[in-house]
Amino acid sequence: MKKNESFNCAYANILVTGGAGFIGSNFIRYLFGRSAFKGRIINYDKLTYAGNTASLKDVAGKYGTDRYSFIKGDICDCGKVLRALKKYAVDAIVHFAAESHVDRSIFGPKDFIETNVHGSFSMLEAARNYWNGRKDVRFHHISTDEVYGSLGRTGAFSETTPYDPRSPYSASKASSDHIARSYYHTYGLPVTLSNCSNNYGPYHYPEKLIPLLILNALAGKPLPVYGDGLNVRDWLYVEDHCGAIWEILGKGRPGESYNVGGNCEKKNIDVVRAVCGGLESVRPSAGNSALKGRKYSDLITFVKDRPGHDRRYAVDASKIRRELGWKPAHNFENGLKSTIDWYLENSAWLAAIKETSYSGWLKKNYLLRK
Ligand code: NAD
Ligand code: TYD
Repeated sequence: MKKNESFNCAYANILVTGGAGFIGSNFIRYLFGRSAFKGRIINYDKLTYAGNTASLKDVAGKYGTDRYSFIKGDICDCGKVLRALKKYAVDAIVHFAAESHVDRSIFGPKDFIETNVHGSFSMLEAARNYWNGRKDVRFHHISTDEVYGSLGRTGAFSETTPYDPRSPYSASKASSDHIARSYYHTYGLPVTLSNCSNNYGPYHYPEKLIPLLILNALAGKPLPVYGDGLNVRDWLYVEDHCGAIWEILGKGRPGESYNVGGNCEKKNIDVVRAVCGGLESVRPSAGNSALKGRKYSDLITFVKDRPGHDRRYAVDASKIRRELGWKPAHNFENGLKSTIDWYLENSAWLAAIKETSYSGWLKKNYLLRK
C-alpha cells in the first residue's frame, strides 16, 4: 500500500547509481512505494559481482519503461553519465554505486579507489556540467559511518566528528565525501550527504556478515567470527535507511551531512547467536540434514582477525531526528526475523546470485584467514 507523505517529492526524474546493489535496489522499491513520488527512476549500474538485475525483477515488470529505465554503465564514464542525465532530464541523483566490502578492499584496494573516488568525482563533474548552476536539483551522496574511524568503549559519531578512516574502503568513501562537499562549497552544487551505519535486510549480497551467516548456517558450513567477536556495529534495517534518504531528499538542506543509525549496538558474537536463534525457531537444525545432528550454534568458528579491524561503531542520529523527524521503524528482533524469512523464501534470487563469483570469493576469503 502506498504511504501518504507529509511533503511532495520535488524531483521528477531521479538517477540512482548502484541501483542493482543491496541498498540501491531497496531504495528504488521504496521510492516507487511513495505516493508523493510520481516520477521516473533511471538505474545506472555497472553490474559488478555485487549488482544483479534479479534484485529488481518485480520493479522492472511492474513499472516497465514508463517509469523505470536501466542503464548498464560505469560511473567512471563521465560522458555516459552526462548523456543519461540529458536524455532523461534528470533533476536528482542518489549516488549509491561503490565497492562496498571492507575485506575485498584489504585484498585489492585498486577498484575501491577507482570507483569510490574517481567514480564519485566523475558523477559530480557530470552533474555540475549538466545542471550548470541550477538550484532546483539535488545530488545526494551515500556514505558510511566508517569514515569516522573506530570508537573506544563510549561515545558515538556525530556529524562533527573528525574523519579518521582506517581501511581502504573507508578511506575511499571519506575521499568521496570530501570531494562531494567541496562541490557544494566551490560550485554551489546542491549536495547532501548521509553517513549510515551497518545495514541488513533483503537482497544483501552474502559476503556481508548477516546474509553470510544465514546461508552458511542453512548449509551446515562454519560461521566465521573474526578475532574475539567483541567488535561492535550499529545495525539498521535497510528500509529504515531508505526512509532516511527519502526525508533528506525532501527536506534536507544542501551542504549538510546527516548521520543515520539504528541506535542498535551489537557485539558481532551476539549477532551470530541471534541469527542462530532466529533460524532455530523457523527452520530447526534438528530437521536440517546438512547439520548432521549439530545445532546452528555448533557451527560458530573463531578465525583470524581482519587486519585493522575497527573495534566499535556507534552513530548519534539526533540531527536527522531533530531536523527531519526521521527515526527507525524496525528494531533488531523484527528486522532480523524479516531478513531470515526473506532468505528462506527467495531461493530464485539466491540462485541468480550464485551464478556470480560469490562462492569463489568466499572460498578465497576463508582460506586467506586461516
Ligand atoms: P553493494 O555492493 O551491494 O552494491 C553496489 C552497487 O554498485 C552494485 O550494484 C554494483 O554493480 C554497483 N557498482 C559498483 N561499481 C560501479 C561502477 N564503477 N559504476 C556503476 N555501478 C557500480 O553496496 P551496498 O551495500 O548497497 O552499498 C551502497 C552504498 O551505501 C555504498 O556507497 C556504500 O558505501 C554505502 N553504505 C553501505 C552500508 C551497508 O551496510 N551496506 C552502510 C552505509 C553506507
Ligand atoms: P561486514 O558485514 O563485512 O561489514 P563492515 O565491515 O562494513 O562493518 O562485517 C560486520 C562485522 O562482522 C565486522 O566487524 C566484521 C565481522 N565479520 C565476521 O566476524 N565474520 C565474517 O565472516 C564477516 C563477513 C564479518
